[in-house]
Amino acid sequence: MNQDHESLENLLSENRHFLPSSEFVMQANAQHGEYAYANMDRLAFWDNQACDLKWERKWDTVLEWNSPYAKWFVGGKLNASVNALDRHVDEGRGDRVAFHFEGEPGDTKTITYSQLLTEVKKTANALIELGISAGDRVAIYMPMIPEAAIAMLACARIGAPHSVVFGGFSADALLSRIQDADAKLVITSDGGFRKGSAFALKPAVDEALKGQHNVEKVLVVARTHQETAWTDRDIWWHEIVDRQSPDHVAESFDAEHPLFILYTSGTTAKPKGIFHTTGGYLTQVAYTHKVVFDIKPETDVYWCTADVGWITGHSYVVYGPLMNGATQVMYEGTPDTPHKGRIFEIIAKYGVTILYTAPTLIRTWMKWGDEFPQAHNLESLRLLGSVGEPINPEAWMWYREIIGGNRCPIVDTWWQTETGAIMISPLPGITVTKPGSAMRPIPGISAKVVDDSATPVADGHGGYLILDQPWPSMLRGIWGEDARYKETYWSRFEGIYFAGDGAKLDDEGAIWLLGRVDDVMNISGHRISTTEVESALVSHEAVAEAAVVGATDAMTGQGIVAFVILRAGIAHADGEELNTQLRNHVAKEIGAIAKPRQILIVNELPKTRSGKIMRRLLKDVAEDRVVGDATTLADPNVMKKIAEGLNSAKDED
Ligand code: WT7
Repeated sequence: MNQDHESLENLLSENRHFLPSSEFVMQANAQHGEYAYANMDRLAFWDNQACDLKWERKWDTVLEWNSPYAKWFVGGKLNASVNALDRHVDEGRGDRVAFHFEGEPGDTKTITYSQLLTEVKKTANALIELGISAGDRVAIYMPMIPEAAIAMLACARIGAPHSVVFGGFSADALLSRIQDADAKLVITSDGGFRKGSAFALKPAVDEALKGQHNVEKVLVVARTHQETAWTDRDIWWHEIVDRQSPDHVAESFDAEHPLFILYTSGTTAKPKGIFHTTGGYLTQVAYTHKVVFDIKPETDVYWCTADVGWITGHSYVVYGPLMNGATQVMYEGTPDTPHKGRIFEIIAKYGVTILYTAPTLIRTWMKWGDEFPQAHNLESLRLLGSVGEPINPEAWMWYREIIGGNRCPIVDTWWQTETGAIMISPLPGITVTKPGSAMRPIPGISAKVVDDSATPVADGHGGYLILDQPWPSMLRGIWGEDARYKETYWSRFEGIYFAGDGAKLDDEGAIWLLGRVDDVMNISGHRISTTEVESALVSHEAVAEAAVVGATDAMTGQGIVAFVILRAGIAHADGEELNTQLRNHVAKEIGAIAKPRQILIVNELPKTRSGKIMRRLLKDVAEDRVVGDATTLADPNVMKKIAEGLNSAKDED
């Protein structure tokens, strides 16, 4: 990135503002004064939030900061599973539903807090019988079924850090994570249901365990009852868990006891084992879940569509909602099985009031057409959330109008695996939102946009997003790679956490995320974000989805190449004429400088399983190179299809 921050100035001017309704404001969990209270004394603020948890021993010191190492609630002792479960049962909330589970084939299960607690206690006893004790690492490789959450909470209960590996990862990826964390046990299932059929998981575990490892046992949930190969180290979940005692008295652990490791990709091939500890993490996930999602545990039905294999599933399916005693929906399958209205059907069925999902799904819904959400009653919804990537204003507006019926506040939440919990987001009863902006840091958090010399930029300017004060749910390191921890996050700006994202402040000081800094293009010395061009393209009526890359250009340094999926069912110009229209549209939305050099119409885009577009691969296509490693794609064939489509288009020319 160069020093030129001016080019962002005129980009993407958004004038629409949305105020929460007075009804929403009056009942909101976070009221005016929340920010002032936190600003007055940040540590006292977090000290007070931690008091909402159940501690066996109170902490002596709120924060010990030895940059870049933080210890929060030093000397405190607590148990994560007690906070998520026992507390509610002990206080008379045992009959409340914790999960409405919906399997993809249509099987359902309702699990109350007291049932969930019993299952977790039995599973904890089973883990102990399998020789697991505090400090041992347990790998969890499962579909989205209740046992995934039960396994995580059982590990937490006995102080064994879990490492959840997303069920869509390959055997190789699983092995490298098992090795890196030196896991002693793997918890998996025979398989799960996805896109209308049963898939197998256990064979990938068998395959992984052909490598070097110290795994002693594999605990297997029977989900699909398909035929499953068996070894001596395998044990069926129902055979060991079901016969355990339903009593288990939880031991409390140090506030800084590791709760989990979660691997995330970095710039090198080796994933980073981000690890989180207990007291600070739980404090911030519970607080953010309460104020950002405005949870009313007695009446809300909350649904976060994330898989437990990602940080969103850890913080906003398992720990945050359960700590707050929420009732949630858990869905095993895909949004288009058996039909494209499945998510909306489930919202109507359970009367979901709070929906938290990702822009990629919102844009997919837009592409499918309004008739799917409109076929179901979505009036129970009162709050909508977005996470994972910048949400373009068009998708934001569609989410608000078509899903939220123009009545639900939208919280666009910025955070990372590393931050553990939400950092930048509107508070729904306070913030006047703008479509596409995550707005401001939540109370108790300090985030800034700075230039190359770490100086905060003025409103209307762009730069790097940094966090200049430690926060309770911050990562405590990269598992086993201390030097990498310092190098990756704390070296670009001395003593300051660098998130890797570009951002700008608009003229009112609201934060607009611009994507990873490596996605920021430089066209003739002007900085343009891929996100902004994508937003501009998607705001054209013919476009459903767009991905933009900066391709090397002899004249301008980089040239903008856009890959565009057209919307179904809308009449639009063809070929050259459409191309010109789209280029002009971008010029109109952002400026002539942002006009794509080339627009390629495609049917699909390469996405990772978490929905992120792999621009690196598109860049290979745009620069006419052999396409690089595509193994982390959700659909490994996408790149072939794109190349074939482009070639056949060339043939026609
Ligand atoms: C990266 C973190 C946080 C859970 C899911 C992803 C991007 C995340 C937003 C948002 C713009 C966002 C950032 C961030 N990101 N949320 N609301 N607006 N960008 O977790 O895999 O650790 O990815 O996702 O680039 O750095 P993750």
